[in-house]
Amino acid sequence: MKRLSASILSADFGCLADQIERVASAGADWIHVDVMDGHFVPNITMGPPLVRSVRKITQLPLDVHLMIDDPDRYLEAFVDAGADRIGVHPEACVHLHRTLQRIRELGASPTVTLNPATPLQSIQYVLGRVDMVLLMTVNPGFSGQSFLPEVLPKIRELRKSIDASGLPVLIEVDGGIHLDTIGDALAAGADVFVSGSGIFSGGRIEDNVRSLKKKMMED
Ligand code: DX5
Ligand code: ZN
Repeated sequence: MKRLSASILSADFGCLADQIERVASAGADWIHVDVMDGHFVPNITMGPPLVRSVRKITQLPLDVHLMIDDPDRYLEAFVDAGADRIGVHPEACVHLHRTLQRIRELGASPTVTLNPATPLQSIQYVLGRVDMVLLMTVNPGFSGQSFLPEVLPKIRELRKSIDASGLPVLIEVDGGIHLDTIGDALAAGADVFVSGSGIFSGGRIEDNVRSLKKKMMED
């Protein structure tokens, strides 16, 4: 089953509850929360208090993407605030294996997330410890960037190795996912599609969600 994860980084924070209700009513499957610290990535965004507020607004699973250095310091706070899934970058973790185990112990679902330039080999020995691999299709830091087509062979390669292993691991893609790029990511083997500007920047939110979901089902 394919899923759409709506990234609220592109939403209008002045009416966030309304925007979340609209994506949910149109059929978005998850809410994607982009956490940035101004160190690991150049931007600063949201933290546990916002996750706690979003948790009160929606029943949809909260897919929290940590783009922060030393994420271990904040895992408990995010789980406590209501995160269902937590993604960390190996580029930001000294002890990746331990961090992923800790996310599971806290009761959340671990995702390992790779920047476009980070090879798949870096997660070879943790694949059995995660529920999802997020392949960044832009360099993390901002919404509204262009999809990087050079990540497509990486998606295909990961699809092959997950299928060969028989592990129940989802592949998520994040960055530049719009109506004109989602088909390529789908064909390459992605299961979960994060979209921010494709949903919130331009057009009616409900129409954008429905169009993306329609494309995702063209399998
Ligand atoms: C980028 C974030 C993305 C971003 C996606 O660092 O991880 O989740 O919000 O936004 P779009 O879909 O506009 O590229
Ligand atoms: Zn993200």
